[in-house]
Amino acid sequence: MEQARNWLRAASSVVALTGAGISAESGIPTFRGPSGLWKNFKPEELATLQAFAKDPRLVWEWYDWRRSLIAKAEPNAGHRALTQLERDKPAFTLITQNVDGLHERAGGRKVLKLHGDIWRFQCSECGRNWPDRRAPLPKLPPHCGCGAIARPGVVWFGEPLGEVWAEAEHAVRECQVLLVAGTSAVVYPAASLVPIAKSAGARVIEINPEETPLSAHVDVSLRGPAGQILPQLIGERSAP
Ligand code: OAD
Repeated sequence: MEQARNWLRAASSVVALTGAGISAESGIPTFRGPSGLWKNFKPEELATLQAFAKDPRLVWEWYDWRRSLIAKAEPNAGHRALTQLERDKPAFTLITQNVDGLHERAGGRKVLKLHGDIWRFQCSECGRNWPDRRAPLPKLPPHCGCGAIARPGVVWFGEPLGEVWAEAEHAVRECQVLLVAGTSAVVYPAASLVPIAKSAGARVIEINPEETPLSAHVDVSLRGPAGQILPQLIGERSAP
């Protein structure tokens, strides 16, 4: 912990990459692991265009359930610690795989959302993209004004990440320290940001209660919940 704190304190350019684990202490289930299942479906079976084409109502039921859970959740100490870091560092980029919006609700100003935003809809025909914060939704599946079915404004397995990817890749190439918090690091290309940062010379600090495929390759693995470890790591103020 002390070594990691020193690296972080000395760095002027920091990136944080987060996953579902950072929102676990806000009561939002992670995708993998015993509490990560919904009606025995795996995310890979529901978060695809094929699943949506086959049964849009089933896919929307899953998203509606998640939206309702997230609507009741509050950001936790882990989200808030990263907001503090954003304020303290001259160059800070927050990259998240989460679609829940909790980083922004914790005051995060700029968040690169690799997998989109559960609070947005996208028309499956005309491509219109708009915000919708109702939870639960009155009618499933929702429709666009053009009459076509709307889909959640998220990235599904097999879909490209869009222009946010280039920005994320640039940020990790430039950073001195990469914090990786609450991700199983098994979903690509998000997980590849870690070796990219490492080969560009960044120190990589992992925060996770469990070992992950990354653990053997990072500089420090801090074992524990993000809501406890991040505030300890970041401290009151970490201005250089
Ligand atoms: P996962 O559910 O795969 O992994 C969650 C990670 O969080 C695990 O490694 C847990 O050990 C860890 N964890 C649990 N509680 C924690 C806590 N309190 N503090 C810190 N870590 C904790 O979630 P992701 O890695 O985010 O993609 O999953 C990546 C992507 O797979 C998601 O964005 C989503 C999913 O399918 C799409 O839908 C495209």
